[in-house]
Amino acid sequence: MSWITSSAPGKVILFGEHFVVEGQPAIAIAVSLRAYVTVEPTQSDEIKVYSKNFDLTETFPLNQRDSWTGKMTPVAVAAYTAMLEADKKTGLNIHIDSQIPPGSGMGSSAAVAVATVHATSLALGLQLDPRKVSDLAYEAEKVVHGKPSGIDNTIATFGGAIAYRKGEGFIQLKPIFRGVKLVLADTGKPRNTGEMVRRVLALKNTYPSILDPIYYSAGKLVVEAAQLLEKGDYENLGILMNINHGLLSAVGVSTKEIELLVHTARENGALGAKLTGAGGGGYIVALCRENDAEKIISALRSHATSVLTVNLEETGVRKENI
Ligand code: PMV
Repeated sequence: MSWITSSAPGKVILFGEHFVVEGQPAIAIAVSLRAYVTVEPTQSDEIKVYSKNFDLTETFPLNQRDSWTGKMTPVAVAAYTAMLEADKKTGLNIHIDSQIPPGSGMGSSAAVAVATVHATSLALGLQLDPRKVSDLAYEAEKVVHGKPSGIDNTIATFGGAIAYRKGEGFIQLKPIFRGVKLVLADTGKPRNTGEMVRRVLALKNTYPSILDPIYYSAGKLVVEAAQLLEKGDYENLGILMNINHGLLSAVGVSTKEIELLVHTARENGALGAKLTGAGGGGYIVALCRENDAEKIISALRSHATSVLTVNLEETGVRKENI
């Protein structure tokens, strides 16, 4: 059996993070940074995972599934899930090489899980429907990460832009994305999604009558934003990003480092800027006209540990012909 390489894109949440956890819609777009996963069936009775980014190799014996630990467990679980689907147990060598910054909220682990399920199933002779790839990656993510909302595996599988509502699934949007860029800037502060989600939910439980209207407002904002995205109305989309950031600040997930980056982007010409993902650290996203991007990037560089420029990525998971 020969090896297969698949890749899947990372994402940014443009609107609706946190509020999505309690049933409001959110919008995420796939970005032009991909995770590449190569899977090769072997004669052994273990899954061996090598991560180029972490320069780390870990092995997972197939007959000791319950004792798997280690950083690469999610990858082994994703491969194992695909193996069960293919009804073929075999050793595997898995090689990961990702352009998506890990732990950044840009969906790195879901992109790796999706590409792993895709490559493993193809390597075992199984052509899965994309929905199945997404579902299996979600199952694998759940085993390791608790209860993710499902945005990350969906966007990594399908690419483009989606509006997502928990329990209802997603619709694919048709954004017009011309003449603008997304600039991402890292606060350099680590973030913990589970912790931030718990904190926001605790606040909501304490002050339901105050927080409910904020959630309602966030939901309305997403519906409006989806229409603006499809019209290519980036002036107004930027305004909604700023409002969305205000709502996220209200529920306590901004920090002074995030505020500094958000305001730096806005003062230097961004159409809108907000934190993206869980907050508490991590990245901000700024929507910029192409002509203004250089100025905004160089201003952000003086405060951010890393600045990235990304485009919308239309293609979700795919097999690489290499
Ligand atoms: O920062 P991330 O990509 O882990 O995003 C978390 C987004 C939340 O809405 C806060 C949680 C979720 O599961 O959707």
